[in-house]
Amino acid sequence: MGTNKLWVACCLVLFATVEVQSNDVVYVIDIKDLPPEQQLAASVLVGLLNRNANSPLAIGKINPTDDAWILSAQTEEPSLQNATFHPVATLEDLGIIAKGSGAVLSRVLYSPNEPWSFANVATLAGIHQGVPVPLNSSVTIPATPLYGFSVFQDLPVAFDVHSQWADAPTATAWGISNLHLLCNETASLVVLQDPGLLHAGFLADLVASRQLFAFHLPEMCDANTTSAALFDTIAEAARSQGSLLSVMGYFWKQEVVAVCSKHHTEISLVSDYCSSLSFWSRMPAVTGPRAQAAPLPAGPYSRLHTYIAIIASDGDNMQMAFNVKRQRMEQRLSECQVIGAACPPLTWTISNRLAEFAPFVLQWYFRKGAVTGKDSFLMGPSGYGFMHPSIIAPDDPLLQEMIDRTSAAAALLSSSAYVHWDKYDNEPAMQAYLNRLSNTSIQSVYSPITPYVPAQIGTLETFRELYRWFGPSDPGAAVAQKLGELPRGSLGVRPAGRHYLACREKVYGL
Ligand SMILES: *[C@@H]1O[C@H](CO)[C@@H](O)[C@H](O)[C@H]1NC(C)=O
Ligand SMILES: *[C@@H]1O[C@H](CO)[C@@H](O)[C@H](O)[C@H]1NC(C)=O
Ligand SMILES: *[C@@H]1O[C@H](CO)[C@@H](O)[C@H](O)[C@H]1NC(C)=O
Ligand SMILES: *[C@@H]1O[C@H](CO)[C@@H](O)[C@H](O)[C@H]1NC(C)=O
Ligand SMILES: *[C@@H]1O[C@H](CO)[C@@H](O)[C@H](O)[C@H]1NC(C)=O
Repeated sequence: MGTNKLWVACCLVLFATVEVQSNDVVYVIDIKDLPPEQQLAASVLVGLLNRNANSPLAIGKINPTDDAWILSAQTEEPSLQNATFHPVATLEDLGIIAKGSGAVLSRVLYSPNEPWSFANVATLAGIHQGVPVPLNSSVTIPATPLYGFSVFQDLPVAFDVHSQWADAPTATAWGISNLHLLCNETASLVVLQDPGLLHAGFLADLVASRQLFAFHLPEMCDANTTSAALFDTIAEAARSQGSLLSVMGYFWKQEVVAVCSKHHTEISLVSDYCSSLSFWSRMPAVTGPRAQAAPLPAGPYSRLHTYIAIIASDGDNMQMAFNVKRQRMEQRLSECQVIGAACPPLTWTISNRLAEFAPFVLQWYFRKGAVTGKDSFLMGPSGYGFMHPSIIAPDDPLLQEMIDRTSAAAALLSSSAYVHWDKYDNEPAMQAYLNRLSNTSIQSVYSPITPYVPAQIGTLETFRELYRWFGPSDPGAAVAQKLGELPRGSLGVRPAGRHYLACREKVYGL
C-alpha cells in the first residue's frame, strides 16, 4: 500500500467511525457490478455492518429495483430523514469501513470452484464475523495479490474450507454437526439458497448479520437419500423446540419444502432474489395493525350482475415484493390516475413476513394501496406461510401454531382472508383444517385447490379459482369476454347458484 493510499485509508477509517456513531450515513455499494467473488464478500460485509449498528447502516444493490427502493426509503422513511446515502465504490473501501468499525474480525477462505461449500462459508462468516476470501479468483492477475481482497490480508483466518468436502451432502452434514449449534434462530429460521445466488450476494448479508444457518441440499426431496435425512435433522431440531421453522431462499425442485420432510410443518419463505434484507429488517418495526382502505360500499345486490374480484397473486414470495410487484403497483397507480380509467378494485397477495424482514416495504405497499382506495391486501399461500396444511397430522401441535399465526398475521394486515394452497385431492383433510379457522380473524379463503371444498366451512366462506389470468398472453378483452360468459350470480340460492369473484391473474368464484 503506497503512502497516498494509506492516507486515504486512515481518513476513511476516521470518517467511518464518526459516521457509525452518529448513524446519519448509510453506505451504499453496487454489488451487481463487482467481480463474482467480490459480490459474496461485499454482501457479507453489508450484513456485518448492519449487525454491528443500531440502525440500518449499509445496503448492497443487486436488483434493478434497488435504486427505487433506496430513493423511497430516503424520501419516505422518517427515521432516515437526516441520513446521507454515501456511495462506496469498491470492495476495498467497504472493507476499510467494516474493519474500522469492528464489524469484520476475520477471514473465511474458500475455493470458488466448490459451490457446495458456499452455504457453510456464509454460515461461518456469520459465526466468526468473517469476510469470505477466495483462494482463487476469476480476476486474479498473476503475481499480484488477489484483486480487491488485499485489505483483509491482516485479518486472522477463522476457517479455510478449501478441499474440505467433496459434495453438498458431506458439506451439509459437517455444517449440521459443527455449525448448526453455533447459529442463532435455528428453531425458527434457516436459509436454503442456491450456491450461485448466494455467491452473487443474495441472502448472504442476512445470514451473516443474524448468524443464521445456511445450507444447500439438491437431493433433499429424493426419498431415502442422505440429503433427505439431513433435511429432517434440520427440521426436527426446530420441531423438538415446538417451533415452526421457516426455510428462506427457494428450492426449485420442490417449492413446498414441507412436502419433503417427515412431519411436513416447515414453511417455505420464498426470498431467493431479495437483496439486503439485513438492511431492510433493521428499519423501524411495524407497530400494530396496518390500515387498509375502507371497504367499498357493496351497493344493492342485483341478480343480473356478475360479481367479480381480482387478486394479483404471488405476493407471498418476498422477492416479488421487492421486484416485479413494485413495478406492477406503480403501473397500477399510473393507470388509475387517468381520468375515466376503469381502475377496478384489486386485491394483492402480500407476505405478512415483510413485517419482520422489510417493514418499510410492507408499509410502502399499504401506503400505495391507500392512494386509489380500491387496492387491498391479503396473504397468499397458505396464510402465515407456504405449506400444505392438510398433509400435517391433525393432532400435530404445530398445526394449531400455524392456525394461530395465520389469524394473528391477518389481524396485523387488517385482513380477513388469504389464498389457501394445499395438496390436491385431499379434500376431507383440507376441509377439517379450514374448519379450525372458524372463529379466528379469517372469515374467508380463496383457493385454487381441487376438488373444491364446500362454499361454507364452519364460519368460513370459501371461494374457488375460476380463471388464472397471465397477463400479456391473455389480452384483457378475451378475459372480459370469459367473465361475461359466467352465469349471473345469486347469493340467495347458495350453493347451486353463486356470485362470482374474478381475479387478475387468478379468478375466484364462490
Ligand atoms: C433530523 O434533524 C432534525 C434537526 O436537527 C431533528 O430535529 C430531527 O429529530 C432529526 N430526525 C431524526 C430522525 O433523527
Ligand atoms: C484455481 O483456478 C484454477 C483455474 O480455474 C483451477 O485450475 C485451480 O484448481 C483453482 N485452485 C483452487 C485452489 O481452487
Ligand atoms: C447469536 O447468539 C449468541 C449467543 O446468544 C450471541 O452472543 C450473539 O450475539 C448472537 N448473534 C447475533 C448476530 O445476534
Ligand atoms: C424409501 O424407503 C421406504 C421404507 O423403507 C420405502 O417404503 C420406499 O419405497 C422408499 N422410497 C424410495 C423412493 O426408494
Ligand atoms: C365457532 O363458534 C361457534 C359459536 O360460538 C361454535 O358453535 C363453533 O363450534 C365454533 N367453531 C369452532 C371450529 O371453534
